[in-house]
Amino acid sequence: MLHQDIERILFSEEELKARVAELGAQIDRDYANQTPLLISVLRGSFIFMADLVRSITRPCTVDFMAVSSYGSGTTSSGQVKIVKDLSEQIEGRDIIVVEDILDSGNTLSYLFQLLQARHPASIRLCTLLDKPERRTKPVAAQYVGFTIPDAFVVGYGLDYDEKYRNLPCIGILKPCVYGGE
Ligand code: IMP
Ligand code: MG
Repeated sequence: MLHQDIERILFSEEELKARVAELGAQIDRDYANQTPLLISVLRGSFIFMADLVRSITRPCTVDFMAVSSYGSGTTSSGQVKIVKDLSEQIEGRDIIVVEDILDSGNTLSYLFQLLQARHPASIRLCTLLDKPERRTKPVAAQYVGFTIPDAFVVGYGLDYDEKYRNLPCIGILKPCVYGGE
């Protein structure tokens, strides 16, 4: 059972649902006169993205991008690689980048540079989780689900070694699972 590897549940399914609904309502208000393009950064944000777009009631479009920066460990390698690029042109569009977690900021500072170079009308970040203590690159998120302490978390799309994405809640992984104390 996946749950046995969880030290402590941080956010239950119900808490996630309630917070994602609030973020959707906020995006609805902020983009009342625009049709934003939501870009899901795969793979970690796929569940968050699916729930977020269903809590937005105004027109929006979606696209997907896959980047990898972690390998199979629990800290960023600092190397960001585009594994899958967007299908849409983004010039002149109002972009909302949808991420699972903002950690060191490596991935997103790289991604933002890349997207800015394609001249969108605007670009904002919506991250489900933010770990500000770990930041080494300045990245600001306009929409943050929850701010969390420096711990490795899994579930609701977030993985360790590609596992635990299917946990419906978010929890702190027991350090013994990844060779910690
Ligand atoms: P950053 O480049 O260090 O900001 O890392 C961003 C990416 O690392 C996220 O999109 C996640 O895929 C992954 N990541 C960072 N912290 C965690 C965590 O606690 N659990 C699972 N994945 C994480
Ligand atoms: Mg990710």
